[in-house]
Amino acid sequence: MKKDLRKFLVEPGFTLRQVIQKIDQNGQGVALVAGDDQILQGIVTDGDIRRAILAGVALDLPIMNIMNSSFTAVPQLYKPEQIVALTSKRSYRHIPVIDPAGRAVDLLVTDEIQRLLQSPSSLFTPKVNFHKRILVVGGAGYIGSVLVRQLLEKGYAVKVLDKLIFGAASLQAVQTHPSFILVEGDTGHLGTVITAIKDVDVVVHLAEIVGDPACALDPEKTQQMNYLSTALIASVCKHFQINRFIYASSCSVYGAGEDFPLLTEKSPVNPVSLYARMKIESERALLNMADGFFSPTILRLATVFGVSPRMRFDLVVNTLTMKAVRDHQITLFGGEQWRPNVHVSDVARAVILVLEAPLAQVGGEVFNVGSNENNFTINQIANLVKEVVPSASLVYQNKEVDLRNYRVDFIKIQHLLGFTAQVTLQQGIVETAQAFSQGFFQDHADSVYYNDRWYGDQNRR
Ligand SMILES: NC(=O)c1ccc[n+]([C@@H]2O[C@H](COP(=O)([O-])OP(=O)(O)OC[C@H]3O[C@@H](n4cnc5c(N)ncnc54)[C@H](O)[C@@H]3O)[C@@H](O)[C@H]2O)c1
Repeated sequence: MKKDLRKFLVEPGFTLRQVIQKIDQNGQGVALVAGDDQILQGIVTDGDIRRAILAGVALDLPIMNIMNSSFTAVPQLYKPEQIVALTSKRSYRHIPVIDPAGRAVDLLVTDEIQRLLQSPSSLFTPKVNFHKRILVVGGAGYIGSVLVRQLLEKGYAVKVLDKLIFGAASLQAVQTHPSFILVEGDTGHLGTVITAIKDVDVVVHLAEIVGDPACALDPEKTQQMNYLSTALIASVCKHFQINRFIYASSCSVYGAGEDFPLLTEKSPVNPVSLYARMKIESERALLNMADGFFSPTILRLATVFGVSPRMRFDLVVNTLTMKAVRDHQITLFGGEQWRPNVHVSDVARAVILVLEAPLAQVGGEVFNVGSNENNFTINQIANLVKEVVPSASLVYQNKEVDLRNYRVDFIKIQHLLGFTAQVTLQQGIVETAQAFSQGFFQDHADSVYYNDRWYGDQNRR
């Protein structure tokens, strides 16, 4: 099937900035340069433009100055076997197809070239998901280590920038994967951030001090890591024209919310912690930086549950499940607060859905990530845990310690992107209880599983 070449064609006088916008929109990492006569004059990739920016070239320079004018193209009448013979000599990510006058009539992209090499008789069916390089900042974390695996399974090249605050074990199994690179370092260090960002196509930002109690330990450090570093990473992306930026915010921005009606992305925020306030500040900073080119997407995640290679037992469902299996007792303080929940693998799926969606659909947008069915009160969660671990008893204390109360609506991401959570809370509880019973977390008391204790220990050292 032929592609609509209007998505790829730019004029020689287009600026670098205009061309990168076109490339962002077509999602294939390439633009074809042709004048009014449609005769192909050059080809340019997002990588060519980023290298030019790194070399100090101005963004308003016409693309003809950096385009590749000695490109390889195949004549329209070439048979698949002839294309295979050509591509077996050198690897190509894109090959334009031209008519006898030199006008572009089609474009072969990575997937099609690879499939042709495997089977010359395969049909030329375009696929949107070409092998992009994704930077996951915080990729060694609870969510990050699951996301990295899903991305690699889908054929993406993955780079992780992480300070490895909780160690490197969560990424050990992928360290030798040919499409994986780890940059160990701090998001507050400009040079490190540039090294991590300069050759990627998409940035997913997950690296912060996570959770209300952990953030309360050192407010200055929290502001530095959770807000200023986010703004720094986004500025570097904006400078290098990496326009697809996905930020993990949290439904905790709704804070002490009303429980009726459900809270949507348009509902007022009502933070009750520094953690949530920094999320709101970061969201605002990112959305203010959006300019038609830089197009951040904000994902307000429900509270996450389930097993991850970097496990956390300071998240409500995981905590209650662990206590039920270990102590046969769950103590509840109040417990009438509503909390939305989402499984860690569903969060990773949502991130991938966003990074594969057309930029026009997700750029500058805020999405709650979760499912309406997984809104529960803490008491309801405890009762669901008890159903899975019947030996556990529930002990009620009349002391409300958590002001957060939010019941969230997840229809926007379902309607716009077709996202539905696949893992129910019950399934997540079973998975966690089984892993615990099977001895996966014998060292569960180690502070590495609890962000506030871990950061507290670090601060005391
Ligand atoms: N887990 C949840 O329930 C939940 C809910 C809503 C939002 N979120 C958001 O999702 C993101 C990821 O959360 P998580 O649960 O995976 O947390 P996590 O604490 O398990 O992981 C954070 C990762 O970031 C890294 N990191 C932290 N500070 C860094 C720095 N300065 N430089 C480099 N790396 C650094 C850590 O080493 C770690 O690997 C966070 O932004 C969090 O606020 C999480």
